[in-house]
Amino acid sequence: MKTTKPGGQGTATGATPDLGISAQNTQGVVALLSRLLADEHVLYVRLRNYHWNLVGMSFGPLHALFQQQYEGLATDIDDIAERIRMLGADAPGTMAEFIQLATLAERPGELPGDRTMIAQLVSDHEAIIRHLRRDLRACDEQYDDMGTSDYLTTLMEQHEKMAWLLRAHIDQRG
Ligand SMILES: [Fe+2]
Repeated sequence: MKTTKPGGQGTATGATPDLGISAQNTQGVVALLSRLLADEHVLYVRLRNYHWNLVGMSFGPLHALFQQQYEGLATDIDDIAERIRMLGADAPGTMAEFIQLATLAERPGELPGDRTMIAQLVSDHEAIIRHLRRDLRACDEQYDDMGTSDYLTTLMEQHEKMAWLLRAHIDQRG
């Protein structure tokens, strides 16, 4: 099986991109992007699961909100995988790899009530945000990849907004 080694010094064939990032640094960036890609998939599937199996008085707005979020994540997932390809590496693309790489856990057979669903999704977004905050700094300061750092900053802001949109449904005042 042929695999693409990320981050070489550039070749006449153009097979390995020469982006001015060392092979070692590229491997570091690809590793954190691959883990992010896996976590985004776990959250994507959880959102679809909850979109389908939600019940209760808030069905309408939550059904729509969960769909809005998994549709947004589908775009992010594509962008993350294509960023890995831009760096010259192969993107993980099977469920088995995603489960192995992910830090978020699946909960087969569990269908909580709507408030617990929201709390779980907020917790997932917040875990991804914490990883992104650490990773975007590592991309800039450790791996010399400002492009990925900039991308991850924008992605973190999107997750912060998605977390707030969910959290506002269960927050109480007074
Ligand atoms: Fe649907």
